[in-house]
Amino acid sequence: MNAFAQPRDRSAVIGPRFDYSALTPAAAAICYPFLLRAFHVVVGTRVATPSPLAIVAAALILAVAFVVPFLALAFACRPDADPAARRLAYAGVATPTLFVFLGVVQALIHSPIPDELVWCMLWLAIATRSQTAGNTVASTQPAVGRWRIVHGMTAAVLCLYVAFHLANHLFGLIGPDAHAAVMKIGRVVYRSFVGEPLLVAAMLFQIGTGLLLAWRWSAAPQGFHRTFQVASGAYLSLFILGHMNSVFIYARSFLGILTDWNFAIGAPTGLLHDAWSIRLLPHYALGVFFVLSHLTSGLRMVLIAHGVNRRAANRLWGAGVVISAAISAAIIAGMCGIRIG
Ligand code: HEM
Repeated sequence: MNAFAQPRDRSAVIGPRFDYSALTPAAAAICYPFLLRAFHVVVGTRVATPSPLAIVAAALILAVAFVVPFLALAFACRPDADPAARRLAYAGVATPTLFVFLGVVQALIHSPIPDELVWCMLWLAIATRSQTAGNTVASTQPAVGRWRIVHGMTAAVLCLYVAFHLANHLFGLIGPDAHAAVMKIGRVVYRSFVGEPLLVAAMLFQIGTGLLLAWRWSAAPQGFHRTFQVASGAYLSLFILGHMNSVFIYARSFLGILTDWNFAIGAPTGLLHDAWSIRLLPHYALGVFFVLSHLTSGLRMVLIAHGVNRRAANRLWGAGVVISAAISAAIIAGMCGIRIG
């Protein structure tokens, strides 16, 4: 069967099934804010040279925080998971970006309740729902044909903005002035009277079609590459939505501040030393990693659909994922104060 063929719907509904191990992504997500807190306790708010022990402890805690979304990804790959458990796992992949989203919404509504408390309550509610929902067991090839093609075509156009935007952030490695100079050039187009509404509309369309595709693909078990594609797409949809909320609503409208380098790095304290802003580090790192590796996943599918050998396409995908991780690390290094040249 070719990759775009649409078999008939073979849906059937099964009743609630209790699988407590499937709650692991939710349990990990609940721990996530406390890992960030622990990181902050070790690193503190002062930009002084920390002891080697503190550096090792902080790096370990941050590494465990990064494990949370990838552990959820592993659970999304489980072939025996039912759809609700799989979707819970996909939500777990989005943990870093959802926690930022929550923090910004909490600030917008002046919530007096700590983020961590709201976070835990939300995850408990989602986890409970996932255990009691009736599950639809669906075809492994859902009806996504046209949406998939439109989604791919919009992605190809949006690539231009993403490539510029990420290249712009790489200039942070040279310094804030270089970053600002490049942003000034780009803004002529993407913040113009015509460019900005078009960009926002295209992003919203991409989020909508992306979530629709993720919902349909998550109804049945998929192979590793497809699961990665769905997981990275789900992360991205929520990342872009939250990111635009932060830029347009929170920063520009609510706070009335410039959305420049200082905004991005949480100046003056910075990403590493601020108790709130540390959550931006995994959020941005995975935003960059997943946008690039998601595009690589799309390219892999297009190549296979056009007759390229599956092994060669997988190898190309693997190289793309490594490059995505390297670019993400370079951008985050620049945002944390590392400079070249
Ligand atoms: C390290 C990662 C990232 C950082 C630090 C970052 C930061 C920023 C900043 C500072 C702005 C405001 C730009 C301006 O005022 O001209 C912005 C805008 C935006 N970003 Fe990002 N971004 C990141 C990654 C991404 C990714 C991966 C995407 C999309 C997949 C994205 C999509 C957007 C969009 C759509 C806007 C609105 C553009 C506009 O102002 O009209 N960003 N970002």
